[in-house]
Order: sequence, then structure tokens, then C-alpha cells
Amino acid sequence: MNGVEISLQTISKTYSSNTGDVLALAPTSLTIGKGEFVVVVGPSGCGKTTLLRMIAGLIRPTTGAITIGNQALWQGSGKNSAAIGELGFVFQQSNLFPWRTVVRNIALPLELRGMARRERMARAEELIELVGLKGFENAYPHELSGGMAQRAAIARALSHNPRILLMDEPFGALDAMTRDAMNFELQRIWMNLQSTVVFVTHSIPESVFLADRVISLAARPGRIVKTTDVSFPRPRQPELEQSGEFQAHVGVLRHLLHS
Ligand SMILES: Nc1ncnc2c1ncn2[C@@H]1O[C@H](COP(=O)(O)OP(=O)(O)OP(=O)(O)O)[C@@H](O)[C@H]1O
Ligand SMILES: [Mg+2]
Repeated sequence: MNGVEISLQTISKTYSSNTGDVLALAPTSLTIGKGEFVVVVGPSGCGKTTLLRMIAGLIRPTTGAITIGNQALWQGSGKNSAAIGELGFVFQQSNLFPWRTVVRNIALPLELRGMARRERMARAEELIELVGLKGFENAYPHELSGGMAQRAAIARALSHNPRILLMDEPFGALDAMTRDAMNFELQRIWMNLQSTVVFVTHSIPESVFLADRVISLAARPGRIVKTTDVSFPRPRQPELEQSGEFQAHVGVLRHLLHS
């Protein structure tokens, strides 16, 4: 699997409600490279989820255009299903179906695509291995820890080989230690797959650990205020967070978040 470029061309989003219009994201242009790991940070309400949901094709930009590779995400009044097919999505909550086992949750997108049972189970087994859930194939979601449920959600998002992975605070509900472990795991999976990742978080250290590039947003209206290249070699080890250079990035980004 190989990543694909995402191009945002002066996209904006205005929500209309009975109390008036809210400009959730001012016109924004950004190119995310093939296989790049981009992390979006910013205060609550600055438009991070709005941005991600627009890239996912879940909401349509009020202005501007999005292309996935060479394909427009929207064509005329409809979504371009070929472009949508390149995307996988992981939410803050794992959203697993409680009545399905882990393996059947992971295989669900393939079932919906009409893949034969034997083939989709084989693919789900591969993914279980990839995310480190071997032995839990037949467990039900309530039998998993939060970290394990998020691993299953990542496996499910990867099941149809998407070339883009969109993640909205996927580890926000986890304790600090599990979160660090998940970040390390995610880096390993991404290095393996070389997909393009757009990852939203509130955690500045998480953003510096994961990102090739951190995009900082500000609120009212939501807009990009800075992009920061993070060039530490990979695989990055958890100890990196203690280094002066890492802390310097964190300091600058925190200052920006609070100013
Ligand atoms: N469906 C909606 N209708 C009206 N306004 C909305 C809607 N969704 C979001 N907004 C507004 O758009 C702005 C951006 O919201 P968004 O959810 O994208 O922020 P966020 O950066 O993801 O915040 P958080 O960090 O809290 O998740 C907010 O002011 C919010 O109130
Ligand atoms: Mg959000």
C-alpha cells in the first residue's frame, strides 16, 4: 500500500444555524504529500474535526475543492466514490459493533464490499497480526481494554487498503502510558504501510512524536497559523521525548496554542 497526495484548495466551511452563520474554517489551502504523516493541533472549536470530516467526504466544503491523488472528491452534486474508496477513518471512540467479535468487526468493511468470506477472514487475520491483537480474534468488544479496542478500530480502518488514514483524536480516551505505546505502534504500522495520515490531537507531545509536519490552527475563525517540520529520524523511540530538541518543539507549539 502506498500513500496518495491530498490537495486542499481554498476550502472553507460555514455552518448555518438559527443563531446565525459560523465560519468554522476560513479559506485554507494545504498539500499533504504522498505518504506524509501530518498532525493537526489547535484549541477546542478551531475546526480540526471540520477539516478532517471535509477530507473524509462526510461534509462538503462551503467553498473550494479537495483532490485525492488526481481525483476530485466532489463532482457536480455528488461524491466521487473512487476518491472516497482511498480513505479509512478512525474516530475518538472505537465504534466497534458490540455483537460482533473482533475479527468480524475488522472484516465488516470487506463484507460490505461483497468480498467472499474466506478471503475477508484471511485479510482480517493479517490485520490482527499487524495491530498486535493475535489471540483476541474471537473476543467481543466489551472484553477489550481501551487500547485494544482502538487497535481493532485501526485494523478495521485499514481493512480495504486505504491509501489515506484519517484519525480524529483516536487515543484521546486512553491513559498516558497506553497512549505512548499506541503512538509507537501507530508509527510502526504507518512505516510498514506508507499511507498518508492526517491525525488530529489535543496533545502537543503526541503531535511532535508522530508528525512529519504539525499544522497549528487557531479559532474564530478556524485557520492555519503555523506549520512546523519535525525531522527526527524514524523509528522514533519513546525516550526521544526527553531530548532538548523535542522539548523545544513542544515549547514553541504550546506557546502558539495559548497565545
Ligand atoms: N454541525 C454543526 N453546526 C453548527 N456549528 C458547528 C457544527 N459542527 C461544528 N460547529 C462549529 O464549528 C466550529 C469548529 O468545530 P469543530 O468540531 O471542527 O472543532 P474542533 O477543533 O474539532 O474542536 P474540539 O477540539 O473540541 O474537538 C465550532 O465553533 C463549532 O461550534
Ligand atoms: Mg474535534
